[in-house]
Amino acid sequence: MPTIIFKATEACNANCVYCDVVHRKKPRTISLDLLKVVFERFNEYLIDCPNEEIRVIWHGGEPCMAGLNLYKTALQYTKEICSETKDRLKFAVQSNVTMMNQDFLDVFMEMGIHVIGTSYEPIHGVRGLGKRRDSRLYNKKFFEGINLLEKNGITWGFIYVVTKKVLDKPLEIFYHLTNLKLKGGFDIHPVLVYDDAAQESQDTAITQEEFADFLGTIFKEWWEHRNRYQHIDPFDTYLKHYTSDYDCLGCCDSPTCGLHLYLGPDGETAQCGRAADWDILLYGNIQDKPLKKIFADEQRTMIDSRVKVLCDTDCKGCEYWRICHGGCPLDAYNGHKDFMRKTDQCLSRKIFLKKYFEPITGLKLPQRNTK
Ligand SMILES: C[S@@+](CC[C@H](N)C(=O)[O-])C[C@H]1O[C@@H](n2cnc3c(N)ncnc32)[C@H](O)[C@@H]1O
Ligand code: SF4
Ligand code: SF4
Repeated sequence: MPTIIFKATEACNANCVYCDVVHRKKPRTISLDLLKVVFERFNEYLIDCPNEEIRVIWHGGEPCMAGLNLYKTALQYTKEICSETKDRLKFAVQSNVTMMNQDFLDVFMEMGIHVIGTSYEPIHGVRGLGKRRDSRLYNKKFFEGINLLEKNGITWGFIYVVTKKVLDKPLEIFYHLTNLKLKGGFDIHPVLVYDDAAQESQDTAITQEEFADFLGTIFKEWWEHRNRYQHIDPFDTYLKHYTSDYDCLGCCDSPTCGLHLYLGPDGETAQCGRAADWDILLYGNIQDKPLKKIFADEQRTMIDSRVKVLCDTDCKGCEYWRICHGGCPLDAYNGHKDFMRKTDQCLSRKIFLKKYFEPITGLKLPQRNTK
């Protein structure tokens, strides 16, 4: 199923220390005319591929910064332009929820959204509103947004980004996050910092060893009391891989990137958001090409061929191959300026699994012939 990361706006009310969105001088937002073209393209694709669905993730920047009218218009276009196909058009949203109100929620719920992805950081100075990066206000507004979600019966989950600022307090952070008692779960990610990032962002960078040790410390606690905790990734996913035939892989671990696509505010498309930021793997403007043609771009074929190269080169004989496949090609590009290399996050995965997950659980990854 195509998944479209729709960055309808680059604008944001927050100023998170590691986020490159905030360094855009003139954040762009899609026009309603272009939004119409986008929905015409969705409809065209769904008519052309009657067995397919499209998953659209409203992303940003902060999606709410695009204004309520954008989402009301999107709903109208869904009904009018995609009248025959709308049941196969699925929506999701990734929002900081600090601007969420009942009007936004009513429109999102009418789009069929009942789970919202968000982002949270309890310590101050990392995520915050406005130029001053006001974390107190961010967290106050965040919890107001969360209360509203819960009042409306919406499940929420969040991404937690591990930075240098929390390396010395993994358990403190873990207990704080799990005490939120959310119905959905949370995903723990390492902060990604690129060479050209601002100094304050560079100061948040962590090594792969540090990320593995952070995860490992909380994994021990999670493992001992796992029935008490909600869904936490990557722990739950690793456990499923180690104990069942589970073969569902996220985009970073799949043999191919699947039909993921970044769609930007001017209609430009790319492999993903990072590719768009780095001006690589660009697939042209949605105004000029149908989605089917965008998905058939030969650069995608090149990326899909990577798995064949890696199993005989960088990842040859790796016991984690079937759950990793060399990782994200953009991470590989970041480390080596070459898509045909393994991810530069390889070490943190191996350390976490070898030093923590396997000794603590006593499990070994069942090997299968999946080449
Ligand atoms: C770019 S934001 C857009 C949606 C929304 N504004 C939010 O914060 O959830 C999407 C996610 O990317 C994460 N993110 C941003 N910069 C990052 C970085 N340098 N490394 C890791 N994650 C990052 C954020 O924490 C957030 O969870
Ligand atoms: S709220 Fe999201 S888009 Fe905005 S600065 Fe923070 S991570 Fe970036
Ligand atoms: S863990 Fe490392 S070597 Fe193994 S498949 Fe992943 S990237 Fe390749």
